[in-house]
Amino acid sequence: MPSSSDSLLKLSRRIESITDSPTLAVEQEARELRQEGHSIISFGAGEPDFSTPDHIVAAAAEACSDAGMHHYSATAGLAELREAIVRKTKRDSGYVVESNQVLVTNGAKQAVYNAFAAICDPGDEVLIAAPYWPTFPEAVRLAGGQPVEVRADSSTGFKVSVEQLEDARTTRTKAVLFVSPSNPTGAVYSEDEVRWLGEWIAENNLWLITDEIYEHLVYDGCVAPSVPVVVPAITDRCIVINGVSKTYAMTGWRVGWMIGPTKIIKGATNLQSHSTSNVNNVAQRAALAAVEGDLAAVDEMRAAFDRRRGILYEGLNEIPGVSCILPQGAFYVFPSFEGILNRELAGRKLQSTLELASVLLKDAGVAIVPGEAFGLPGYARLSYALGEDKVAEGVRRIRTLLDG
Ligand SMILES: Cc1ncc(COP(=O)(O)O)c(C=O)c1O
Repeated sequence: MPSSSDSLLKLSRRIESITDSPTLAVEQEARELRQEGHSIISFGAGEPDFSTPDHIVAAAAEACSDAGMHHYSATAGLAELREAIVRKTKRDSGYVVESNQVLVTNGAKQAVYNAFAAICDPGDEVLIAAPYWPTFPEAVRLAGGQPVEVRADSSTGFKVSVEQLEDARTTRTKAVLFVSPSNPTGAVYSEDEVRWLGEWIAENNLWLITDEIYEHLVYDGCVAPSVPVVVPAITDRCIVINGVSKTYAMTGWRVGWMIGPTKIIKGATNLQSHSTSNVNNVAQRAALAAVEGDLAAVDEMRAAFDRRRGILYEGLNEIPGVSCILPQGAFYVFPSFEGILNRELAGRKLQSTLELASVLLKDAGVAIVPGEAFGLPGYARLSYALGEDKVAEGVRRIRTLLDG
């Protein structure tokens, strides 16, 4: 029997059931090694390596001296920001909504949390394509729901089909989580694929949570259509997640939003009113300048990311046993390392990508996030949100280690 103080110290079952963010953990480890003086090239970051554009920072500086910004504001967000998000959404994806359908959140991450909290009851199942961004299943669990993985691999460009979703559907299925361009694979669904998905959602009376945070980071002339625009029939059962983090290099400002039917937005706003209240007003004013401005900053970032994507894709494919498909969006590649596992390499056998990531960090000073973190062992995620020289040097180090 545990003593009473032991049982007091036990965490709740809900918190016990989740793990820390593996992607943030890799970045933290790389940071610590760097502080100890090691030369580390990190492909772990899930954020642009650019600075927030000056006009956005200036808007925040101005907001700091506005006394109106020093106090609590409406939980759902500053009215002018909610209206600007409505205009931005129409401009960028063609989705037409009203400002009472928008809730401004502390980053898109809180929007994901709020969305599942608003729709999931205990036991509700949410279909999630694997490999997935680790927050998705954890947010479902925190809401009392049950994440159900639908697995894809490189043979389908990491995309799941409607047939696979149908096979995974049960009477308890409540929602599908969709993200295109995808973290961690960079996969982008075509308009036809989006239509098939939207129609299947409508037919089966499910919710769709669609994360559009990488909407502008697409390459080779590709576009990422918004599901409720392609299939308007789902607008009353669709929650769109978005934010300024990736488009404007604003990960530290913590501004995102969710768009959905007013009843859901009202419920999520109530939840937020008892947890975090309004998002920092100064950050909201920065986000306002971002979404009201043009897309010049993201155009510049996209061009740089595109060059790095090429270096990484080609460099990885030149390493025997590594194969990588060319992703069309976001800033990640998701190569397979299956060809090097369980083979003799410099006197040792690596048995998993978890082990590979650890050896790469310790022996080659390269941080990658193993596929285990995303529900697909044998692969790994490498972010190309780092300078071209570093990308090239990182690939060289991986090659040297794997060539033994
Ligand atoms: C798919 C996806 N959604 C949401 C987020 C979170 O964005 P934010 O920084 O706005 O919370 C991320 C961050 O990595 C992401 O990859």
